[in-house]
Amino acid sequence: MKFYEEKDYDALSRRAANIIAAQMTLKPDCVLGLATGSSPIGTYKCLIEKYENGDIDFSQVKTANLDEYKGLTRDNDQSYYYFMHENLFDHVNIDPANTNIPDGTKEDSEAECSHYEEVIASLGGVDLQLLGLGHNGHIGFNEPAADFPQATHCVDLQERTIEANKRFFASADDVPRQAYTMGIGTIMRAKKILLVVSGQDKAETVAKAFFGPVTPEVPASILQFHPDVTIVGDQAAFSKIP
Ligand code: F6R
Repeated sequence: MKFYEEKDYDALSRRAANIIAAQMTLKPDCVLGLATGSSPIGTYKCLIEKYENGDIDFSQVKTANLDEYKGLTRDNDQSYYYFMHENLFDHVNIDPANTNIPDGTKEDSEAECSHYEEVIASLGGVDLQLLGLGHNGHIGFNEPAADFPQATHCVDLQERTIEANKRFFASADDVPRQAYTMGIGTIMRAKKILLVVSGQDKAETVAKAFFGPVTPEVPASILQFHPDVTIVGDQAAFSKIP
């Protein structure tokens, strides 16, 4: 594992964007695995700047997002589809036909999840997967569990996730109860992994996930077994590394 410690969120976002830009330069038709959440927003901003400066080109890039809420339509401002358009896709020259996100409006979970695995396989797999890190060590919607889920699957959101998310919705009843997510196996098949993490509140998780035992109780710990992982964090997030 390669660790880049940066002084703050802006610096780590620039570093992560540089790594993604290098991937795009080396392979203009690369497949990027993308994440939502607060961690990658700065990285996306830097990528948009690089695009505007003429340094990178998304015309041949393909993307596959990690996850999506089940039951939200694309125009719902809490859907990950909406997030990706708002924070990246609408600001660069990516072909919308080349972007892939699990379809939260699909009722049949099994069909949608196996379809998503086929989509990723048809792209030739993910070249570089961008990840954030949950406080409990989750990646995608893969929460601590007794084992590592392999393929894209439908998860029941934990009560505290629903509780934490309800501030974004009109009422607790509107918060989705389920989500589609790439499995740990899907994530581990990416050729390269780039994880961005910031803040003191993630310091304990960083230490546990990357310096503790590999266990499905800390899903991100599996990344220790991946041959090409880069973790880009700020000083606060790295402050408990032994
Ligand atoms: C996002 C995702 C999640 C987040 C994680 C960290 O697509 O799958 O695993 O990466 O919850 O979220 P933030 O970055 O908001 O702290």
